[in-house]
Amino acid sequence: MAETKNAAKSITIEDMAVFCKKKGFVYQSGEIYGGLSGFFDYGHLGSELKNNIKSEWWKFHVQQRDDIAGIDGSIITHPKVWVASGHVGCFEDILVECSKCKTRYRADHLIEDALKIAADGLKKEDINKLIKENSIRCPKCKGEISEANQFNLMFDTNVGPIRSETSKAYLRPETAQLMFTNFRLVQENARLKLPFGIAQIGKAFRNEISPRDFLFRCREFEQMEIEYFVHPDKANDCPLIKEVLTHRLNIYSAEMQQKKQPHKEMSIKEVLDKKIIKTQWHAYWLATEHKWFISLGADADKFRIRQHLPDEKSHYAADTWDLEYAFPFGWKELQGMANRADFDLKQHILHSKKDLSLFDEETKAKVIPHVIAEPSQGVDRAFLVFMFNSYNDDKERGNIVLKLHPKLAPVKAGVFPLLSNKEELVDLAESIYLDLRKEFPVEFDTSGTVGRRYARADESGIPFCITVDFDSLKDKAVTIRNRDDMKQKRVKISELKELLIKLIRGDISFEKVK
Ligand code: GLY
Repeated sequence: MAETKNAAKSITIEDMAVFCKKKGFVYQSGEIYGGLSGFFDYGHLGSELKNNIKSEWWKFHVQQRDDIAGIDGSIITHPKVWVASGHVGCFEDILVECSKCKTRYRADHLIEDALKIAADGLKKEDINKLIKENSIRCPKCKGEISEANQFNLMFDTNVGPIRSETSKAYLRPETAQLMFTNFRLVQENARLKLPFGIAQIGKAFRNEISPRDFLFRCREFEQMEIEYFVHPDKANDCPLIKEVLTHRLNIYSAEMQQKKQPHKEMSIKEVLDKKIIKTQWHAYWLATEHKWFISLGADADKFRIRQHLPDEKSHYAADTWDLEYAFPFGWKELQGMANRADFDLKQHILHSKKDLSLFDEETKAKVIPHVIAEPSQGVDRAFLVFMFNSYNDDKERGNIVLKLHPKLAPVKAGVFPLLSNKEELVDLAESIYLDLRKEFPVEFDTSGTVGRRYARADESGIPFCITVDFDSLKDKAVTIRNRDDMKQKRVKISELKELLIKLIRGDISFEKVK
């Protein structure tokens, strides 16, 4: 595969956190009180970028398709949902504690850091053995590490005025279950026929033992998830597969991992022919999710799909592939795409005693659909991908240039009067700004030299800057500057808004502007 285009631009996750705070993208939550670990607040640029990511995801996965309907479920729901889903019983990580300083660690992370091996999914006994055999000690005080314990990751709360076991409820640890519990209603209301999906964007909560890597592992986070239901006999019969057969991505199967081979770039056709991915639907969704990131400017070669090892899979999963991204802190999961088969619907049928099957017109029999692929990703992780992917420390310009896709850019244009003490320039620039901001977010900047204003705009990821100069008063035109190559064009004010709308949507490239 071609060398990663972004290799030279990478900064550490710590540096990214500093940049995000400085520019108003993300802050530690409750910072004035010392902050709360695993919780973050999005600032004025961050909330715009995050909203743009969600809205592009929703357009691509829901509004521009006729086989997926959306829902917006509640964060707290009937506690039996989480009993049926298995989360109350087994949504757990393994915890160890330093017997001296009492710091608690997620055991697999402690082992990964100490031994540089993958430890996700290891059982309690294996963890105890590895810690003992390798004399792993507390990284902080070198104290002895305790025996491993299971720790349930769900946050619980109470509903109503009396706190008791019967009023106990949970903050949802995934949005997925609301798609299963509402499955029949959505299918009927939206008149969906198999195969079809239900999508949702919303907050989820996990009481992570050791939140880390800035936004990557938080306790409160947001998910964009689809449960895609297919007829159980048609997992390998995807009418959309043609769209992705020639699509290429890096493949890292369980076998490659076990044989210590590197990942390999392949086409989806090759992957299916060689039965590396077993079903067409699973392959279709993995490729489609990769395509979504690329469509918004992410470098294709910084992604790979990695199959879960047999002891790594979640309790509900028959087969899982993660879409991973090469972050500066290693290849990490962006999307876990599990084949959940009929696990969830069957569990809810069993626990609720409600019929969640569909009538199959062909066989005249009831069927319980399978979820072969569950494209499920964290918004905050996608946010990090787009930030790392667009971050450029431009030594020639002497400033950071955040080359975000115009669709994602928090602010689409900056409007500057060339001189801020010339009333006629300021007035004209302000009238352009007021007109443009009816359509999209625009910044009006009169402070400092134009060069300084360009630099500030670059660092905020503003793709287009419009400068009003003395000629503008006569020729009714302005200069538009393209963030990525600093090229400039002269454009009539009367045509500016329409042109910017086309540039933001990607209907026209800057080179093509006359
Ligand atoms: N629904 C899958 C997940 O939350 O990871």
